Amino acid sequence: MAVANDITALADRLAALQSRDTLRFAMCGSVDDGKSTLLGRLLAEAGMVPEDRLAQMVRDSKTHGTQGGKPDYSLLLDGLEAEREQGITIDVAWRYFGTDKRAFIVADCPGHAQYTRNMASGASSAELGIVLVDARAGVLTQTRRHTAILAMFGVQHVLFAVNKLDLIDYSPARYHAIEQECVKLAHDLGIEHADAIPVSAINADNLVVHSPNTPWYTGKPLLQYLETIKIARAVDAAFAMPVQWVNRPDHTFRGYAGVVAGGRVAPGNEVVVLPSGRLSRVVRVVGGDTDLKNAEAGQAVTLTLTDQIDVARGDVIADPALPPEVASQFACHLLWLDDTALLPGRRYQMKLATCTAGAQVTEIKHRIDPDTQAHLAATRLVANEIAYCNLSLDTDIAYRPYREDRRLGGFILVDRETNATVGCGTLDFGLRRDSNVRWQQLDVDRVARSRIKGQTPRCLWFTGLSGAGKSTIANLVERRLLADGFHTILLDGDNVRHGLNRDLGFTDVDRVENIRRVAEVAKLMMDAGLIVLVSFISPFRAERQLARDLIGEGGFMEVFVDAPLAVCEERDVKGLYAKARAGEIANFTGIGSPYEAPERPEIHLHSDRQSAADAAALVVKLLTE
Ligand code: ADX
Repeated sequence: MAVANDITALADRLAALQSRDTLRFAMCGSVDDGKSTLLGRLLAEAGMVPEDRLAQMVRDSKTHGTQGGKPDYSLLLDGLEAEREQGITIDVAWRYFGTDKRAFIVADCPGHAQYTRNMASGASSAELGIVLVDARAGVLTQTRRHTAILAMFGVQHVLFAVNKLDLIDYSPARYHAIEQECVKLAHDLGIEHADAIPVSAINADNLVVHSPNTPWYTGKPLLQYLETIKIARAVDAAFAMPVQWVNRPDHTFRGYAGVVAGGRVAPGNEVVVLPSGRLSRVVRVVGGDTDLKNAEAGQAVTLTLTDQIDVARGDVIADPALPPEVASQFACHLLWLDDTALLPGRRYQMKLATCTAGAQVTEIKHRIDPDTQAHLAATRLVANEIAYCNLSLDTDIAYRPYREDRRLGGFILVDRETNATVGCGTLDFGLRRDSNVRWQQLDVDRVARSRIKGQTPRCLWFTGLSGAGKSTIANLVERRLLADGFHTILLDGDNVRHGLNRDLGFTDVDRVENIRRVAEVAKLMMDAGLIVLVSFISPFRAERQLARDLIGEGGFMEVFVDAPLAVCEERDVKGLYAKARAGEIANFTGIGSPYEAPERPEIHLHSDRQSAADAAALVVKLLTE
C-alpha cells in the first residue's frame, strides 16, 4: 500500500513538474519558528498526506514528537522526498509537492548565521521567499537577515508568515503592526512585492481555508496564495543560451549545446555570439534526436548556425536585439563561504553560467552587516560575510546584471587548488574603465630584447622562511651568472619594501599585494630580456601560483630554500625571531603568520645541510642546462 502510494506520489510529482506551472520557494526561519510544522500541517490540511502516513505521524508524535505527545506535523516532512538537486554546489534540501493547480519545489533554509550559505543557495533559485515571523517576537534581527539575503539573491516576492497567532490571542492590532514593519523592511531592501499572512501552524489557521479566528483577515489562505501568485518567467525574457559544449561528432555536424536561459529560439532566428559579437543565424534547433520548431527557457537543445564561426564553451548565443553585455570588470555583491578568508588580489576561478575565468577581487568597497545593512570597512572577508566589491576577470565575458537575469548574473568563486566553492555573488554592473584602457602595440618586444642579450629570460623565484638563506644564495647565483655574461636583476624583499612597496606591512592582505606587485615587476623585467631573481618570503601558495601564472610555465622556476624553523630561529641574523617571540613583531612568518611550503618546486634546496655555494652552483647548473 505504502509503495503504491509512493509510486502514485512520484508520478504526480513528475507530471506536475513537467507541466510548466511550478513555483519554487524558499522557507526561511529558525528551528523554533515552526518552519517544518507549518509545511507539514499545510500538506496534511490540503489532503496531500495519505491516511496511513497521518496515523503513523500521530503514533510517532507520542514517542519522539516535540509537542508533548500531541500530533507533531513536522514529522510529516521526514516522509516527503528530500533531494539534492544536481548542479548545486551548496547543499540545500529541496522538497517537492503538488496540488492539481501547481507543483511546488521548496528549499528548506535554516536560519542561523552559520547557515547563510545554505540560505543563499536556496534563495538564488527561488521565485518566492517565505519568511517565518514569530507573532510574539515580531521582526527580529534574523528576520532582517533572511529578508536581506532574499533581496541580495534577487527574490522579488516575499511572504511574511506571521506564525503562532494563537499565542497573541489573534490580536489584529498586534498583527497589523508586525505586517507593516515587515512590508516596510522588504521595500527598504528593494523587494518589489511583499505580503504578510496571519497563521497558526498548530491550529491550521489560514493554511487552506480562512480561519474563523481571524475574521479581520481578508487576504488568501496560504495554499491559495501559493497556487495563484503570479511570477514573471524566464520564457518571457530575451533569448540567451550559454554554450555548454561544442558538439562535433563528425565533420558534417557542428552544434552548440546548452540549456536555454531565457526566451525562445527557432530556426531562422538571427543570433549574436558573445563575447566576440559575431552575428549568425540559427539553422536547426535539435532536442534529443529530433528537430524542434522552437525551444524555450529551461530546455536543453543543440543549435546549428549558418556560419562556421568560432564558438566555445562559455560563450553565450543570444538575441541581437537585446543581447547580454560584455565586460571583464564588475561591481558585485559577494558572500564568502570558505573558512580561509578572502583576500583582495588573491586569484580564484570564477564560474558564471557555463563560463570559467581567472578572477580576483581588486577592492572590497564595504562589508554589509546582514542584520542592520550598515556599511562597514573591511580588508578581508571571513565565512558568511557579505561585501560589495570590485571583481576583475582575465577575459571578457557575456553577462547581465543579476537583478535582470539570475543565470547570467550569478557566479561562484572556486579555489584553484582544491576546487572548493569559496564564494558566491551577484554582478551589479560592468565597470567602464575596461574599455578606456587598451593594450598599446609595441614594435620591439621581449624576443627582440632578449636576442641582443643572447639569453632566454627566466624568473628564479626564491621562497622560504626569513633567515633560510634566500638572499645569500640568490646573491651568489647572480654573481655567477654575471661572471658568465648573463644580464640579470635581483629583486629582494627587504630592498623592494624600502621603495615600491614601502606602503605595505605584513598582514595577509599586504603580503598578497606585495607579491602581486613584485610578480608584475618581474614580468616587466623579463620583457626587458633579463634573468630575474626574486627573493621574497612569499609565504602563500596562492600568490606564488599567481606569479607562476603571470610569468608563464617554462619561464618560472620556483626555488624552495628550505630550512627548519628552529634552524632559522637559531641563526636569527637580523634578531627578528627574538623580537617576534617577545611579542614585539606581529604576524612574523613562522611564528604569528603561516608559511605554506611549496609542494612541487622546480628546485628544492636544504640550506641546513648544503653550503650556500653548493646550493647556488646547483641553481646555476639547472638554469643553464
Ligand atoms: S613577504 O612575506 O611579504 O614575502 P618579504 O620577503 O617581502 O615578505 O619581506 C620579508 C622581510 O621583512 C624579512 O626578511 C624581514 O627582514 C622583514 N620583516 C619584518 N617584519 C616581518 C614579519 N612580520 N614577517 C616576516 N618578515 C618580516
